[in-house]
Amino acid sequence: MTFDRREFRNALGRFPTGIVVVTAGEGRDLRGITVNSFTSVALDPPLILWCIAKSSRRYDLFTNATEFTVSVLSENERAAAETIATAGEGKLAGVACEASETGPAAIAGAVAVFECTREALHDGGDHMIIVGRVHHFRQRDGAPLTFFRGTYHKVAN
Ligand SMILES: Cc1cc2nc3c(=O)[nH]c(=O)nc-3n(C[C@H](O)[C@H](O)[C@H](O)COP(=O)(O)O)c2cc1C
Repeated sequence: MTFDRREFRNALGRFPTGIVVVTAGEGRDLRGITVNSFTSVALDPPLILWCIAKSSRRYDLFTNATEFTVSVLSENERAAAETIATAGEGKLAGVACEASETGPAAIAGAVAVFECTREALHDGGDHMIIVGRVHHFRQRDGAPLTFFRGTYHKVAN
């Protein structure tokens, strides 16, 4: 049986997700990447994961980062998602950020923020699975940005 990668990708795209931006670094060296592979892993200890493509120019930066922050984007932050997705090395020029408690800055207005330390890296084919332990989190009211079948959506009430 032939395995059609494009159709596989399309099939995966029928699973709706949120959109997060993962940030690492500080000050002018703060970098970000737009991600929809984020998911919760465990409550005790508090663990999350996301996956980064080994082909990404940001791969070394994010796999070497011992601290990173996950910002769950609100529906008003589609432009930030697009800007950061196409930002080359992930510079956050023009994207409003807000300070975190101890970790890298978050995207301003995010509906939830998880400040993490790197817990583990697991090989995942052409991606690396990055597991983070959450040390601080915060949340605010607001609808999340979602992604489904290759495009951004707002949550319908
Ligand atoms: C909706 C969306 C979801 C994405 N999810 C991921 C992801 O889970 N992991 C990943 O490595 N890249 C993901 N990307 C791609 C990165 O955001 C970015 O576009 C890519 O890393 C660009 O390549 P570069 O890092 O070489 O510049 C996603 C992009 C979009 C638009």
